[in-house]
Amino acid sequence: MSGHDHEGEILRYRTRQRIVHAVMASSFLILLITGLALVWGPLAFIAAGGWSRYLHRIAAVGFISVPFLYILLDRAGAREVLVESFQYDHDDVVWFKKMYRYALGRTSDMPPQGRLNAGQKLHHSAVIIFSAVIVATGIVLWGFKSSLSPTMLAWTAMIHDLSMLALTLLLVGHVFFTYVYKAWSSMATGYVPEDEMKLEHGKWVEELEHQVATGSES
Ligand code: HEM
Repeated sequence: MSGHDHEGEILRYRTRQRIVHAVMASSFLILLITGLALVWGPLAFIAAGGWSRYLHRIAAVGFISVPFLYILLDRAGAREVLVESFQYDHDDVVWFKKMYRYALGRTSDMPPQGRLNAGQKLHHSAVIIFSAVIVATGIVLWGFKSSLSPTMLAWTAMIHDLSMLALTLLLVGHVFFTYVYKAWSSMATGYVPEDEMKLEHGKWVEELEHQVATGSES
């Protein structure tokens, strides 16, 4: 569908979208490691000398920049992921009921899905919400610590840490599904096999075929 160089493949993520994902994933992993070093004994050696605190702040700037970078580099992609992640239909409800089959790598009998399947919608929307909480509490801890009462400081730090824990658990699921469905090519090259997409994202492929037929592809 996508031209001679990529016969039998579909473009899933444009280069600029993949750059945004790389900034998000790498800054998140640095935040996780340097953050864990502050609260978990076995990693405390990383915090020795205090340099990991600076790295944590540098990575925080990278993580905070993600939505702005996305809007700057690919406004349509940013709008798409924001809107689609929070829109569920009946097929998505059925998909969730059969999710255990999908987790085992079985796509047959799953209801047809759009560009994002129901699990991806849940993952992406949760990433957006928890990231917003992490950024908001992180900015308070960074710049306004001294103006907080001890109780407020403890609450802010706890919400910050629990949101990071939630994002880490989401990441485990995210990497698990990437592995089970060999989805890495969508972020590595941008392209994915068309036959696999017909099975996993049938409604999306139909939409693309309709756009090609009517000459309305973007
Ligand atoms: C480090 C290991 C990671 C791997 C292997 C990975 C893998 C992937 C893959 C393959 C996709 C495309 C899935 C598809 O076909 O639609 C994707 C998308 C996505 N990932 Fe990751 N990811 C990683 C880290 C992260 C982290 C740390 C976050 C968030 C904190 C994240 C959030 C997202 C989001 C929001 C999307 C959708 C991107 C968009 O629509 O522009 N990922 N990831």
